[in-house]
Amino acid sequence: MADYILGIESSCDDTSAAVIRDGYLLSNVIASQQVHKDFGGVVPELASRAHEQNIVPVVSTALERAGIKPSDLTAIAFTRGPGLLGSLLVGTSFAKALGIALNIPIVMVNHLQGHILAGFVRQEGKENRQPQFPYLCLLVSGGNSQIVKVNSPLDFEILGQTIDDAVGEAFDKCSKMMGLGYPGGPVIDRLAKEGNPDRFEFSKPQIPGLDYSFSGVKTSLLYFVRDEMAKDPSFLENNKEDICASFQKTLIDILMSKLIKAARMTGIKDIAIGGGVAANSALRARIEAEGRKRGWNTFLPELKFTTDNAAMIALAGWFRYQAGERTPFDVAPVSRMADYLM
Ligand code: KG4
Repeated sequence: MADYILGIESSCDDTSAAVIRDGYLLSNVIASQQVHKDFGGVVPELASRAHEQNIVPVVSTALERAGIKPSDLTAIAFTRGPGLLGSLLVGTSFAKALGIALNIPIVMVNHLQGHILAGFVRQEGKENRQPQFPYLCLLVSGGNSQIVKVNSPLDFEILGQTIDDAVGEAFDKCSKMMGLGYPGGPVIDRLAKEGNPDRFEFSKPQIPGLDYSFSGVKTSLLYFVRDEMAKDPSFLENNKEDICASFQKTLIDILMSKLIKAARMTGIKDIAIGGGVAANSALRARIEAEGRKRGWNTFLPELKFTTDNAAMIALAGWFRYQAGERTPFDVAPVSRMADYLM
């Protein structure tokens, strides 16, 4: 009998539900919250309320699009954390209630593992190339920057991680500082396409091992813009494309230098990326270019699987379900769980 897994994701500002059948995606519905736009960032209380409004229609639509009834479900996978506690509470409570009502198991998923495994979501009629274990995943999002050695769908080893800001945070904070809007990654990515990445230099950190740091480059941009604006108040407006391209190149140089080092140290040649920043067009192009040069097999998730989505949660949960994992119904969400299950 086929396994039908419902995935539920509500860790931040996207309410999402997806159905997979034996690893193949049947539906993936995402309601992105618009209420935060005027605030320059996600407002936790507004996010929880929007999840409450969205969760029932989103899950119903996911089941409908998958062409199944609730009673066809085998198990429910849900994001337990990390994320905003109030937001996680909505998805977790919904998963528990539906699991009890249908008398089927629930399986908790670490959101970060969902991002790492996103490339394993299979789709009918697509090529569905997948990395071989162990492979390296560069996990880059608004909350994390890590190099993870993925030994199996259940076994993750963090080889390096940021000691301060995440790379997505650097994109977002610098965009905000330059008045370009939120989230900053997509705006900087777009403007950078029109700019010269070699025009300006920003400082790069000297951190030993495989760890990252992004707070220095952020400060370097801040001081640079402040000093230039003191000389010419229209500097930012007249040079924003070159600033974005140069800043983005610096961030990518930092990410790539440690990824190349990790690949060399481990001898691993299957290299994947995951998380929101994995949508960045220059980072994707760079990983492919380095891959060609170094004989890597590179795995870039489709754009729709880079940002928060329930397909990756359903998939990660399915691996755990198959391994016999069942989550007790008294489970509570946790906002910080970077080390949990890693
Ligand atoms: O994984 P994600 O959706 O949320 C979590 O942090 O869990 O990642 C969001 C981050 C934001 O910092 C956003 O600016 C960044 O991903 N992002 C991008 C791009 N699209 C989204 N960063 C760079 N280039 C992009 N195209």
